[in-house]
Order: sequence, then C-alpha cells, then structure tokens
Amino acid sequence: MNGKICLITGATGGIGKETALGLAQQGATVVIVGRDEAKTTSVVEEIKRASNNPGIHYLIGDLSSQQDVRAVARQFKERFTRLDVLVNNAGGVFSGRRTTVDGIEYTFALNHLAYFLLTNELIDLLKQSTPSRIINLSSEAQRGARLNWNNLQGEKHYNSFGQYCFTKLANIMFTYELDRRLRGSNVTVNAVHPGVVSSGFGTTLGRRMQILYSYIRPFMRSSKKGAETVIFLASSRETAGISGKYYFDKRQIRSQQVTYDESAAKKLWRISEQLVGQE
Ligand SMILES: NC(=O)c1ccc[n+]([C@@H]2O[C@H](COP(=O)([O-])OP(=O)(O)OC[C@H]3O[C@@H](n4cnc5c(N)ncnc54)[C@H](OP(=O)(O)O)[C@@H]3O)[C@@H](O)[C@H]2O)c1
Repeated sequence: MNGKICLITGATGGIGKETALGLAQQGATVVIVGRDEAKTTSVVEEIKRASNNPGIHYLIGDLSSQQDVRAVARQFKERFTRLDVLVNNAGGVFSGRRTTVDGIEYTFALNHLAYFLLTNELIDLLKQSTPSRIINLSSEAQRGARLNWNNLQGEKHYNSFGQYCFTKLANIMFTYELDRRLRGSNVTVNAVHPGVVSSGFGTTLGRRMQILYSYIRPFMRSSKKGAETVIFLASSRETAGISGKYYFDKRQIRSQQVTYDESAAKKLWRISEQLVGQE
C-alpha cells in the first residue's frame, strides 16, 4: 500500500481504528476522521507508534452534520491530491429517536446519509485516482430490516434496533446502486459485514442492553478480526476490480432480496439526494 492514500471514518475506536492500523502497517498514508480532537490526535500517535509509519493524519467532523461532512471532504481535497481508498465506517445504534442539526433522524443521518454525502463529495477525486476503492461497513442486521418508505426516519413509529437494521440495509442498497453508476470508471465499491464485534458499538444503549452485552461479549470477535475483511477489500490483489458485492469473512454473500431491487435503490438514492440538498 506504499504511495496509497486511505480515508477512514470512525477510526478513533473499534473496527475503524484496527482498519487504520492494518493499512498503516502495509505502508499506506492513512487519514482518519474523528469527532473529538484530543481523542483523535491520541489515536494518530498510537497508530504511528504501532505501525512505525509517520504518514498518519486526521480530520475532525461530526458526521451526523452535513456541514461537517462537507468540511471533511473539502479539507481532504485541500490537503491531499489523490484518494485510493475510502472506508465509510462511522456508525452506531442509538436509543431514543433524536434529530441532527439538519433535522434528520440521527441513525439515518450518521449511518446512511454521511456515507452517501461523503462519497459523493469525494467521487471526482476517487475517479481521478483510479484504480480506487470504496468500502461501506454494513451488517447482517440488514437481514432483519423492513423497508418502509413512509417511516424511513422513524417518524411514525421508532425502534432503535429496527432503525439501525434499516440503515444497514440502506448501506447495501447504496453500495449496489453506486456500483451501477460507477461502471467503467475503475472505482469499485463493496459492502462488508464485519461479524459480531466487541467494540464500542452499543455502549450508548440503555442499562438493560449493557447487561445483555456483558453476557455475550466473551463470544464476540475482536475489532482486529472484524477489520480483516475491510482491509482485504481495501488492499488485496484478489479483490482488485471486484465491485457491487457484499462480503463476510473474505467471501461474497447474498444480502436481503430487497437490496437487489434496482428501482428501490434508485428511489432511496433520490430521497438521499433531496435530504442532502444535491438534487
Ligand atoms: N460491532 C459490531 O458487532 C458490528 C457489527 C456489524 C456492523 N458494524 C458496523 O461497523 C461500523 C463500526 O462499528 P464499531 O463496532 O467499530 O463501533 P464503535 O467501536 O462504536 O466505533 C464507532 C466509530 O464511529 C465514530 N462515530 C460515532 N458517531 C460519530 C459521529 N457523529 N461523527 C463522527 N464519528 C462518529 C466513533 O467515534 P468516537 O470515538 O468519537 O465515539 C467511533 O470511532 C459501524 O458502521 C457498525 O454499524 C459493527
């Protein structure tokens, strides 16, 4: 990965941090996105030390805010002349419905719209840096999702985990539709299920969930293991040129049937464009 530049969101912890470390160990220049400056700079130093790679940089932004997503993309383009790998990873599950500064339901804004907007803001640079790769962190939680066009932001009824599942379904629909739009460009895009990982994920949920987590945590995999397929898609020769697929443990798997519905994916794309003001 020498000479390659990778941008990874949510790399201050969990799977994103291990992905950043793994790519840094392969010699890539790594740019991590964090939302807290002190935490982010400390992770940058940790990755530099652990990888013996001085080429680790950072950008700050709360990715639930569209203004911050645009600022991260703008600052990246001001500082770097190419982008070889974009990893859309920042995300989570959150208890209770709340809205962002843009008035959008938080989980939908962070887990789906931030992927959509950051990628679209950086797509010209990715096209100029070919062969380049985009990796979207999804989840097998997509299998439990229901696509309800009248309740995309949980306006009518809200369930934290149900909303999380839907956003992970949206990650795959976005991946497949982006792949169709990128055909012939030499930019590839794939989605990943990292496994059930003992990370910071779920720690913002209530006490009952914390107790449940404490029981199942010993059976979960490490963030390092969770990052393996992300790193594989970002860097291996084996995955060069492969696009529009969903991976688990370095193998392509099928996603829920509705993700293969092109008209539904186009509809979600149009709605996403409207919500980020790009129509
Ligand atoms: N853990 C699992 O079992 C699992 C399973 C399937 C899929 N995934 C997916 O894997 C991805 C990474 O999850 P993880 O398990 O590594 O979770 P994690 O340990 O909680 O890490 C989440 C990362 O996202 C960042 N983040 C959260 N909210 C943000 C915001 N508003 N703006 C910017 N950054 C924000 C966090 O930053 P801070 O450090 O500032 O909090 C952190 O770096 C997610 O997309 C998740 O859906 C996880």
